[in-house]
Amino acid sequence: MLSIWTDIQRRRLLRSGNIPKHVAVIMDGNGTWAARRRLPRTAGHARGAEALRRATTEAAALGVEYLTVYAFSTENWKRPKAEIDYLLNLFLKYLREKVPDLVQNKITIRFLGGLKKFSPQLQKLMKAAEQKTTYAAKPLLTVNVMLNYGGRAEIVRAVNTALQAKEKKLTENSFTRYLYTTGLPDPDLLIRTSGQLRLSNFLLWQSAYTEFWFTRKRWPDFDGRLFRQAVRSFQRRQRRRGALRA
Ligand code: FPP
Repeated sequence: MLSIWTDIQRRRLLRSGNIPKHVAVIMDGNGTWAARRRLPRTAGHARGAEALRRATTEAAALGVEYLTVYAFSTENWKRPKAEIDYLLNLFLKYLREKVPDLVQNKITIRFLGGLKKFSPQLQKLMKAAEQKTTYAAKPLLTVNVMLNYGGRAEIVRAVNTALQAKEKKLTENSFTRYLYTTGLPDPDLLIRTSGQLRLSNFLLWQSAYTEFWFTRKRWPDFDGRLFRQAVRSFQRRQRRRGALRA
């Protein structure tokens, strides 16, 4: 149910006109959230998936065009096998159950990263979800789920692909064609939960001029109100990108 207060907050943000076009999120703190409640870490991931749904709803309501989330990093393979299996099964479950919801809300989903490392079954479902959420008209929101993603690996891969393509001289602009995020604008705002103040190999190239917003709240507790707080903070900042005035 939409409370009056939620509605007022959204209107205030929308009135300012400066809604970030692209929001990136490091969904941190699932494990700690669970441990604090004496639950297995996996319970934190399950609740994290619900938080992602809330973030998606808020992004769509505010007119954010791209929401890019760090769901599985190249470093996450170092976790215990049981936790990795749980996460991969959670992705499968969401792909099986939630695609009609996305279609109904005109939300496009994209999966970016080293996807070949995943099972053929998961790869097939990801592809099907992408196809089913491709529309003739512009989507309300595009959610990019970064999987087996690392910023450094992405840059090295881009350089190698450019070399294979026999590029003679790259520019900053032409280089971006070789990144997973080709065609996307750079993130305007990056949100990280759980009180950690670092980038952890996420969108290294793309976040050169991104505004960061951190909260101590853990990802499973993330909700629309926190999303709006992050956007409010973004709206108060002056983005100068090295110049004297925005
Ligand atoms: C970080 O918390 C979170 C992850 C490594 C996984 C993110 C996955 C989800 C939110 C699940 C839902 C995703 C989809 C696409 C359905 P952590 O485990 O590093 O927490 P900790 O820092 O407290 O240990």
